[in-house]
Amino acid sequence: MKRILSGVQPSGRAHLGNYLGAIRQHIEMAEKFEAYLFIADLHALTTTKDPQLMREQTYDLAVSYLALGLNPEHTVFFKQSDLSEHAELCWIFDCIVKMPFLERAHAWKDAQAKGKKETSVGLFNYPILQAADILLYQPDLVPVGQDQKQHIEMTRDIAITFNNTFGETFKIPEPHIKKEVAVVPGTDGQKMSKSYGNTIEIFADEKELKKQVMGIVTSSVPLEDPKDPKSCNVFQLYKLLGTDKEVKDLEDKYLKGGFGYGDAKKTLLAKILDHFSQAQEKYQELYPKKDYVYGVIEEGNKKAKIMASKTLEEVKKKVGYK
Ligand code: TYM
Repeated sequence: MKRILSGVQPSGRAHLGNYLGAIRQHIEMAEKFEAYLFIADLHALTTTKDPQLMREQTYDLAVSYLALGLNPEHTVFFKQSDLSEHAELCWIFDCIVKMPFLERAHAWKDAQAKGKKETSVGLFNYPILQAADILLYQPDLVPVGQDQKQHIEMTRDIAITFNNTFGETFKIPEPHIKKEVAVVPGTDGQKMSKSYGNTIEIFADEKELKKQVMGIVTSSVPLEDPKDPKSCNVFQLYKLLGTDKEVKDLEDKYLKGGFGYGDAKKTLLAKILDHFSQAQEKYQELYPKKDYVYGVIEEGNKKAKIMASKTLEEVKKKVGYK
């Protein structure tokens, strides 16, 4: 059976971008493949320096995955910082990766371009930790959104370098990116991302969700005129959630005219509320069940440890530590 692995940072509430681009595929694929999914809290420390927020966001992400349908019986669901193997393998990779290789990383280049000269070593090293996350579990596929493609390519390069230096050790994983949702747009049309402040959060309460949807940027075409669905952020998001018929109906309304953006936003809001109504109920039900949620992670940690420590043992032999 093929194996998948992926992670999400606990850097804010789950939004439509990380749900449609990644979490939905993670949960679906876990029913067909052997699945390792984790909360990437080591990576989140590059941005979150508030311990209480770190705890809350980690817990919130765990509850969100479970509410969205993750089945802990079919998935090894764990927390990155609970497995010291990630940081250990990261160090070993640190010693075979050259600085110019890391300087090509988009996230690093963006931070430099924005004049953030004081970026942390952790941010610079981010792709190496991600390579360790992935390669410890020897997966075939890594389901992610488009923004992670470069990290998977770097992971492949690191695996090849290690194999060439110390002998065949790592399987070379493939990125798995679903085309239609590779880049989910945010309320301003850029990629939806917490750092751009343009997210629509799945588990926000109705009032907050309404504010986010009503805040979607649209053109100034008057209500009575026909509108272009393709260039509209509201329509682009609706397309990702509606059935073919619902999408066609909304498209017709745009093209006919006499249908304003306010109406389109209300249609999208209703769709989101309907789409996530069950998940929302489950979220409310699970949130107070701390013992259960932490218990799921504990179990996942134990199972993940078996695989991670096996790979690390092999790596230690290869480099001469054993
Ligand atoms: P993160 O936490 O930023 O995002 C989690 C997943 O959601 C996808 N995603 C999107 N996809 C489409 N459109 C969007 N607007 C959008 N926003 C987010 C991301 O591509 C990602 O798949 N570095 C990773 C976490 C990580 C990881 C790993 C992933 C750490 N180690 C190992 C895979 C394998 C990250 O920051 O994702």
